[in-house]
Amino acid sequence: MIKSHNFGAGPCILPSTVFEEAAEAVKNFNGSGLSILEISHRSKAFVEVIEEARDLLLKLMGLSSKTHTALFMHGGASLQFAMAPYNFLSKGAGYINTGVWSKKAIAEAKKIGAVSLLFDGETVDYKSVPNKKELETLPTKGYDYIHLTSNNTIYGTQFKEFDTLGSPSIIDMSSDIFSTFRDYSQFDLIYAGAQKNIGPAGTTIVVIKNQFIEQIVSRNQLSMLDYRKHIEADSMFNTPTVFSIYTSLLNLKWLEEKTISVISENNAKKAALLYDTLDKSAHFKGFAGRECRSEMNITFTIENPAIAEAFDLKCKEENIVGIKGHRLVGGYRASMYNALSLESVKVLTDIIEYTDNA
Ligand SMILES: Cc1ncc(COP(=O)(O)O)c(C=O)c1O
Repeated sequence: MIKSHNFGAGPCILPSTVFEEAAEAVKNFNGSGLSILEISHRSKAFVEVIEEARDLLLKLMGLSSKTHTALFMHGGASLQFAMAPYNFLSKGAGYINTGVWSKKAIAEAKKIGAVSLLFDGETVDYKSVPNKKELETLPTKGYDYIHLTSNNTIYGTQFKEFDTLGSPSIIDMSSDIFSTFRDYSQFDLIYAGAQKNIGPAGTTIVVIKNQFIEQIVSRNQLSMLDYRKHIEADSMFNTPTVFSIYTSLLNLKWLEEKTISVISENNAKKAALLYDTLDKSAHFKGFAGRECRSEMNITFTIENPAIAEAFDLKCKEENIVGIKGHRLVGGYRASMYNALSLESVKVLTDIIEYTDNA
C-alpha cells in the first residue's frame, strides 16, 4: 500500500498501531471470539473499556474523578453547542467569536437565552484572536459562563493562553485537545469531538467540574439533553458509540506512552518547520496573524494560479491528501494532528520550496 501523508482536518490521521489494534478488535476482540462491533455495551468487557477510557482521559488532563466527571457522548461537538446553553444559560452568557465553529455555538445559544458578544473576530477577518492581555480587558465577569473555542480549525488561529476568564468557562477544544500542555483544571466544562486528537468520529468527550454540575439550570429538561441523565447513567443513558470509544482508548494509551511532553515538542517542531517555509516563500502566504498561529491547522494561500496548479500536481504525486482549505474560506490548510509525523511535514515543505523556486 502506498503511504499517504494525511493532512486532513478531521476525521484525520491516527497512529498506525491504533489502526492495527482496532482492526484486530473488529475481527476478534481481546480473544473473546466476538467482534468489538457485536459486543453488548452492558457486557463486563465493554464496561471495563469505557471505565478505563474515562480514567485515562482524566489522567491525561491531570484531573481527578473526585473533582471532575468525564462523559462519552453522541452528537459531536455540534450537539454541545446546544447542550451547554441548554444546561447552563439562565441570565446571560458571554461568547468569544473567533470563527465558523464559535459562530455556530453562538447561534445555538441565542435560541436559548441572552448572549453577549465579548469579542467579534469578524472585525479582524478572523486572522487573530485576543492574546492574554486583551482577554484580561474583556468584560467577562457576571455571566453564567464564557464560551471560547481554543483552536479555530478553519481559519488556523489558536489561543495560546486563556486562563483569565472572569466567569465559569466552557471551552470547545475539539481541534487542539492533547496537542500541548493546558491547565485543564481551570475550566468548568471542556468538550471535544473525538475525530482529531482523541480517536475516530463517533464519540464526543465532555469533562465537567463537579461543582459546576450543581449550577445546571432547573427547567423541565429533555432527557437526552440533560448532562445529569448521562452522568447518572455513566455515559450509557442510551447505547454508546462502542467502537469509537474503544478506538479512542487505544489512542489515549498511545498518547500516555508517548507523553504529552514529547507530543507537544513534536507539534512545535512540525509547526515551526512549515511556518518557516511559508515565511521564506515568495508565493505562499500564511493566513493567520503570527502571534496566534495554530500548531494544528496551518492555513495559507497561493496567489499565482500557475504556482497553485504546480503545487496541486506535486502534492498528488507525493500522496499528500486533505490539504485543501475549508470550503467556506478556500486556499489551503495543512492539519497536523498528533499522529502526523515530522517526515510528512518535510515532504510538504520540500514541495513548497520546489514549487516556489520552479
Ligand atoms: C473547533 C470545532 N468545533 C466543533 C466542530 C464540530 O464538530 P462535530 O462535527 O463533531 O459536530 C469542529 C469540527 O471540525 C471543530 O473543529
